[in-house]
Amino acid sequence: MMKLKDSEYRFNPYAPGFFDNPYPFYDRLRENDPYHHSFMGTWILTRYDDIQEALVNPNLSSDLRNWAGFEKRYKDRESIPWFVTHSVLTVDPPHHKPLKNHLNKSFLESSLKKLNAQIPAIVKQKLEKLEKLGSFDFIPEFALAVPLETIYYVFGIEEADKPKVKKWSTDISKLIEPLPILANLEAADQSIQEFSQYLKEKILQTQLDQAEDEQSFLTSLFENPHSESFEKDEYILPNLILMFMAGHETTVNLIGNGIFALLNNPDQLKLLLENPELTSSAVEEMLRYDPPQQLAWRSALCDLQIGEHNFKKGDQLMLLLGSANKDPAYFSDPHKFDIKRMPNPHLSFGKGQHSCLGSWLARLQGKIAIREFVERFPDMEITPEGVRWFSNFSFRGLEKMPIVTNN
Ligand code: HEM
Repeated sequence: MMKLKDSEYRFNPYAPGFFDNPYPFYDRLRENDPYHHSFMGTWILTRYDDIQEALVNPNLSSDLRNWAGFEKRYKDRESIPWFVTHSVLTVDPPHHKPLKNHLNKSFLESSLKKLNAQIPAIVKQKLEKLEKLGSFDFIPEFALAVPLETIYYVFGIEEADKPKVKKWSTDISKLIEPLPILANLEAADQSIQEFSQYLKEKILQTQLDQAEDEQSFLTSLFENPHSESFEKDEYILPNLILMFMAGHETTVNLIGNGIFALLNNPDQLKLLLENPELTSSAVEEMLRYDPPQQLAWRSALCDLQIGEHNFKKGDQLMLLLGSANKDPAYFSDPHKFDIKRMPNPHLSFGKGQHSCLGSWLARLQGKIAIREFVERFPDMEITPEGVRWFSNFSFRGLEKMPIVTNN
């Protein structure tokens, strides 16, 4: 296999054009250098088989302390080390499974039934506002508004607190970027402290106010019997923060990237409008085609082989989920947006023990929001020159997408 020399091609997410469309960059890596040692010191994996194998390999750790750069990056930070060593995303066995089971059970029991009714109500309310506007920026007004209102509802956040809670969450979500700048680390550190303090007070207040027949997600985490297996404050606060963030910072991009894909593929939009029963497979294709979360991280606990490459203990691996989803070995015509694609084994929610805990909620919101939006505004048009992508690498999404409804 021909290997590109570093001077010919350096993997650089900050290269011109990357944020607009990273997929040609991924294709070149997958075809020429599928185990790419990047300038960040990280190994970048791009093939479906290798990524799938890495996601389920027990010798690859999600605990950031097994990454050689941990100390250097976080040594001056007060709360980031606590947050990242206690949130389920970055906890390894044996703590991982009981913690995940506990979060999962409390989340489902407290929220599933209520959300089945609440999400359509939130969507309806946002659509009524958009109908009056006629033209709007789709991202803040709908793609973000729906998952954000949903997660505010799950957490019981009051109107007056929403702006500060959103700011904390946005600050903390920047931690997931591969090369966070100092100012972002400082802001995240501060926001973890403030958000934790706020949640502590909120939990106490909710426990006092709660009617006997009502169950809130915040208090269910303390009442559920599984909670005995770990220290409550230590683990619950970081995971509440994680779930608040994960609960909307990704789903906004499922809805945003999904409607963008439909608008750029009018034949598929027409097909969906004529066949509402295709909504589920359309959402799966949106997740595959332009995934909201582009990557996952792992560190090697020992020397090990993945595919054709030997990694050394301590190596850090970046698994490009967005590239696995475009691997022609698994998907025919991978760059085609095909809402009838079946099967569609995308890796957009990960795989194995760390696979997404909120995938049911993301799918539920995605289906309702996208279906209702296209039905309400079938003749919508995008203003292409107004479209702008965020300069984020891990979370891929649009910052602006102006739409005219023509209703
Ligand atoms: C379209 C929306 C979403 C996408 C694309 C997505 C993607 C992912 C991915 C790829 C992972 C695995 C990361 C890894 O293996 O390192 C993950 C884990 C996780 N997600 Fe999601 N997610 C979404 C929505 C949500 C929602 C709505 C919630 C919660 C309300 C959520 C909560 C979590 C949590 C807690 C984990 C960690 C699970 C673990 O480590 O065991 N996600 N997500």
